Amino acid sequence: MPRYALLILPAYNRVYGESALRLTRSELAVFGLKALTAEVLDVEETLVGGVPYLTFSTAEPLQDADIALLSNLSSVYALFGVEDELLRPLAMRPLDRLSSDLITIQKYAGKTNEHFTKLLLNVTVLASARPLDARVSVFDPLCGRGTTLNQALMYGYDATGVDVDTKDFEAYTLFMKTWLKNKRFKHSAEVVPVRRGGARAGRRLNVEFAVSKEAYKAGDVQHLSVVNSDTVRSREFFKPRSFDVIVTDAPYGVQHGSRGGSGLSRSPLELIEEALPVWSELLRPGGAIGISWNTYGGKRADLAAILREEGLEVQEYPDFEHWVDQAIVRDIMVAVKR
Ligand SMILES: C[S@@+](CC[C@H](N)C(=O)[O-])C[C@H]1O[C@@H](n2cnc3c(N)ncnc32)[C@H](O)[C@@H]1O
Repeated sequence: MPRYALLILPAYNRVYGESALRLTRSELAVFGLKALTAEVLDVEETLVGGVPYLTFSTAEPLQDADIALLSNLSSVYALFGVEDELLRPLAMRPLDRLSSDLITIQKYAGKTNEHFTKLLLNVTVLASARPLDARVSVFDPLCGRGTTLNQALMYGYDATGVDVDTKDFEAYTLFMKTWLKNKRFKHSAEVVPVRRGGARAGRRLNVEFAVSKEAYKAGDVQHLSVVNSDTVRSREFFKPRSFDVIVTDAPYGVQHGSRGGSGLSRSPLELIEEALPVWSELLRPGGAIGISWNTYGGKRADLAAILREEGLEVQEYPDFEHWVDQAIVRDIMVAVKR
């Protein structure tokens, strides 16, 4: 049986410590279950030249399309075919179409780790009816300063977000405008007031950009939109069935520095319960929702019950729970809308 070796990003090991290999295993299992042409078998940790690798076999040799898919694993640094004692590098073809500083430049208290965000986006899109390399439309209804949105744009997707925090909205708007200018991308970016029923309901950032003039002419344009408002009002800003996936990192129920927002008066699960009917309406049939949350703020079974109550099908995914700090043990849950 063909065997492969996966080298984990040093940064991933630093962030996750002992959980890095387990999270990689779990993500690899989801790729195997949902997208690869061959079954993934016999996954184990192996030392090669004193360096830890995750090695695995597949029932059939991996196809080029499989290697391309695995190039997007949130932890992958390099991928090899194992040939006796030797490792043969496999050519990685990640979806990434923008420079990585889009995701790494912004640093702030309460930022969701970017590798984790990529993991959550991956396993959510894989649960949906859309392939990872399609033009997926992503909604983060608690988007902060846009880590999910930026990862979505990186993949060539369209991204939409909502956040109640005015400072986050303003910081992200400024960041995106500056970034697009610095990259000299052909783009438009404007903030417009949003009014509903004669009253001001929030503000909205609308961005359109293309990576080159040729792309722009060919209509290869990506869209980003962010509304500064309470997420429970999302239905006022977007039409039903607007999004292929919803990916969000829920508030942890602990204060991160100066980050406030009216939503913090509710517990994370209360907020999800209140907002879910609205979020679900915005999801297309065949779409998936991936939520990460602090397990100290609510039990897995309770979140699953909230999702099922809304008619969503909770996925039987492998173990993704991991320690973040003394106040946060994070887990994820993915559910599908039929
Ligand atoms: C864990 S943070 C998400 C951080 C984001 N992924 C990032 O990397 O910037 C949760 C976010 O939920 C927002 N939030 C809390 N309650 C909300 C509500 N009712 N409506 C909209 N946003 C809310 C907070 O302002 C915060 O930005």
